[in-house]
Amino acid sequence: MSMNDHLPFHDMTALITGASTGIGAATAIAFAQQGANIIIHYNANHAQAESVLQTAQQYGVKAELFQADLTAAEGSRKLARYASQKPVDILVNNAGSLLTRTRVLDFTEELWERMLMLNLTSAFFLSQAVLKGMVDRKRGFIVNISSVAARTGGGLGALAYSATKAAISTMTKGLAKEFAPHNIRVNAVSPGTIDTNYHRTFSSPEALDDVRAATPLARLGRPEEIADTVVFLCSDAASFVHGQVLEVNGGFLMA
Ligand SMILES: NC(=O)c1ccc[n+]([C@@H]2O[C@H](COP(=O)([O-])OP(=O)(O)OC[C@H]3O[C@@H](n4cnc5c(N)ncnc54)[C@H](OP(=O)(O)O)[C@@H]3O)[C@@H](O)[C@H]2O)c1
Repeated sequence: MSMNDHLPFHDMTALITGASTGIGAATAIAFAQQGANIIIHYNANHAQAESVLQTAQQYGVKAELFQADLTAAEGSRKLARYASQKPVDILVNNAGSLLTRTRVLDFTEELWERMLMLNLTSAFFLSQAVLKGMVDRKRGFIVNISSVAARTGGGLGALAYSATKAAISTMTKGLAKEFAPHNIRVNAVSPGTIDTNYHRTFSSPEALDDVRAATPLARLGRPEEIADTVVFLCSDAASFVHGQVLEVNGGFLMA
């Protein structure tokens, strides 16, 4: 008996991409709290990834770090190869970024390719890499992190980002259909505006005030509120929730 045997995810391994900061870090810690062993993927923020690892270990779970830049095909392949050798029961495709706010007429092919690789292509091939093991073990959960931008088209300069997020939402439904017979549940969470580095980098204080004013709950979301939704989707409480894109946005955009 270990101290975690009574916890719902005690016999599972969760891989969370982009788990050094923000939503991914909160999700990794939430799964560790629920007894899952975790694999923390990160890119540039080694120190913060290390601090997520230490917090997770305080819950008595195994935790490890893996670095990969997912804007590059090479980094995406490296993570997929690594993950395919691990017993991943839960995959959270969370790593993502707007990279830069760039209007359509200034967009380059290179930026378009990096955007798609980071926010879409790497998530597809990482899913493929872990799905093989999930099929063999007849169990698995995938949660993709989309965005409210998938439905609104995003703010100015976020066209490509929004398009990748719409694709992530659609990919969720396709995966859900194909892997349901293997006891693999696939869903997505579509966050509204969550208070993370993302907005410290890409949004002005005025733009965030406008979001608060347009949000019935009159505030930004917290990373933990998205993490709780991801954990819910992988739990028995959500055993009939499949192929859904769950909107978590304080009422900013409804239906
Ligand atoms: N915040 C929001 O309002 C909001 C709303 C809708 C959707 N989302 C989505 O939520 C997810 C998490 O974002 P967040 O708000 O938590 O932002 P964040 O705090 O900036 O976290 C982004 C994570 O993605 C990783 N990442 C960024 N660029 C990467 C790259 N080139 N290669 C590999 N990993 C990379 C980062 O790793 P390093 O820091 O280690 O480089 C970090 O762990 C993203 O997919 C984002 O699009 C956020």
